[in-house]
Amino acid sequence: MCGIVGYVGPRNVQDFLLEGLRRLEYRGYDSAGTAIIENHHDLLVTKSVGRIANLAQRVTGSSDDCQIGIGHTRWATHGAATLVNAHPHVGGENCLAIVHNGVIENFAELRSQLVSQGYSFVSETDTEVIAHLLSEQIRQKTGGDRSGTTYPRELGMEAIREIMPRLRGTYGLAILFKDWPETLFAVRLGSPLIIGVGDGEHFVASDASPLAGFTDQIVYLADHQIAMISEDRLQVSHRDQGPVAHDVQKMEIRSNQVELGDYEHYMLKEIFEQPESIRNTLRGRLNHDDATPVFGGLNLSPQELRKVKRIVLTACGTSWHSALVGEYLIEEIANIPVEVEYASELRYRNSPTEAETILIAITQSGETADTLAALKEMKRKGHPTLAICNVVGSSIAQEADGGVYLHAGPEIGVASTKAYTSQCIALTLLALYLGRLRHVSYETGRQMIDQINQLPEAVEKALQTNRQVAEIARKYHACDNFLYLGRHYNFPTALEGALKLKEISYVHAEGYPSAEMKHGPIALVDLNTPSVFVMPTGFIYEKVMSNLEEIKARGGPVIAIAAQGDQRVADVADDVIYVPPTAEFLQPIVTVIPLQLLSYHIALMRGCDVDKPRNLAKSVTVE
Ligand code: F6R
Repeated sequence: MCGIVGYVGPRNVQDFLLEGLRRLEYRGYDSAGTAIIENHHDLLVTKSVGRIANLAQRVTGSSDDCQIGIGHTRWATHGAATLVNAHPHVGGENCLAIVHNGVIENFAELRSQLVSQGYSFVSETDTEVIAHLLSEQIRQKTGGDRSGTTYPRELGMEAIREIMPRLRGTYGLAILFKDWPETLFAVRLGSPLIIGVGDGEHFVASDASPLAGFTDQIVYLADHQIAMISEDRLQVSHRDQGPVAHDVQKMEIRSNQVELGDYEHYMLKEIFEQPESIRNTLRGRLNHDDATPVFGGLNLSPQELRKVKRIVLTACGTSWHSALVGEYLIEEIANIPVEVEYASELRYRNSPTEAETILIAITQSGETADTLAALKEMKRKGHPTLAICNVVGSSIAQEADGGVYLHAGPEIGVASTKAYTSQCIALTLLALYLGRLRHVSYETGRQMIDQINQLPEAVEKALQTNRQVAEIARKYHACDNFLYLGRHYNFPTALEGALKLKEISYVHAEGYPSAEMKHGPIALVDLNTPSVFVMPTGFIYEKVMSNLEEIKARGGPVIAIAAQGDQRVADVADDVIYVPPTAEFLQPIVTVIPLQLLSYHIALMRGCDVDKPRNLAKSVTVE
């Protein structure tokens, strides 16, 4: 939610900022802007409403005498998506420019204090408060002396440190001061910021994607840390502890992973990457000899895990759906009771939890504010915490006691696809691992591992339905209501299919356990309300078939996702999309593929921006 970039070095600054913002656009696309310092003292701010393409038309390019700049792409929180509310925001007398990701909760209070001190505000944002607060701090430290006297840049660092305790909320900030035109400042609390280390240059970004192809050396800034960055020097300080050492780590992302290649949209690219992303999640994690999955980073011994009496899975959105899949898997395979909680609810509930409960947070980005807060709350209560996470080094990955990285590669399309299937597979491995610590036999373990190994191929085959799915989408794309129905392992798939359709095509869709629709939603059924049944063969098949008949009896069109070889369904459903038959515990990973494709094609046919649906942002870093 909101993307930040910064650069100091010899490259064309505006070119890097625009390229970085393009790659971060999935974090928000309400407005965008850059600030650069030219000729060592001219602070130049350019802003536009809407996409980065609009900003690129306004930016004139930076002169040879420009080495430093910051940029921002916004997902509006405080104030509408207007030009005045776009970042960067400038502080008193244009002495500094600031870009912000996060939310300042006490901004109204700070704003009135600053107004009483004579500051006037042009925007409705919480960020402008930080800009003025900082310029006021500088004014106090210099006695308002702007006569050209040179103060050391440490004074800027000091001023940032001093205002931090006054800011309540979350922030990742990149700051330029007119008086120190060779230094970029960055600071974070609760919002991600990373620093790229190059040869005679440094980069700042909200996540690693803008840095791919520029440098693979990165430093994760931690909460309460402030970085003072020039071309050839990076100094990091902690708000309370003073200067601290920083680790330079090697980044995993390659530039071709963040490019579209031959695909028209990131979403389609990521859908088709799934056989590979699933292989990457599985890589090195299946031990055939011991008939068990293995994990490197759980940081809980088999003895500790055997004692676990309950698992709480927490997440938001699509990741919450994979948590539901995880609930079925862990209860079924490992026989451990599981609760699935929306992170935003868990955080404020006071549900009694037994001592032997572990929390697992599931998140693609590792930055979702609610998930992070829920994890912290459970950790505070003394429960061991794990994260199933895609983004290496993200806040949740750092906060958890241990976890499982998905290695699905960067997910850029706002609608989550490959991260979802990788989350499901990570949970499958975890369920089998826990099961093998308890009652699952060697032979069953071997058999399940063989079935898991066949999964990427099954997903490849499911992707071959693309053309047929596009035809079905053509038939139904004008419908304004859809029902998605499934049972057991495929109930979460129904929820996920409905969410995919809603978020990218703005079509109303409801996901339900198929038997539950009799208790209300069946009233929605009419000739123009298709029901999508997720009904591969399995122990519950007959029951779902009866539910399907009930819909047909009321004249509703039915699209069925069924297992290859099921002839019966073809006699009753209007359209059938066949996927390869798989073991029941793996079905959600295969049956979701045509649903992802269906939402993609319907959204395209309705003229929607698939990768950047309205009102959404990729990682939701505000409550
Ligand atoms: C939907 C989608 C969102 C995210 C949710 C959680 O396609 O992407 O619902 O799943 O915002 O995000 P993460 O997984 O990053 O915590």
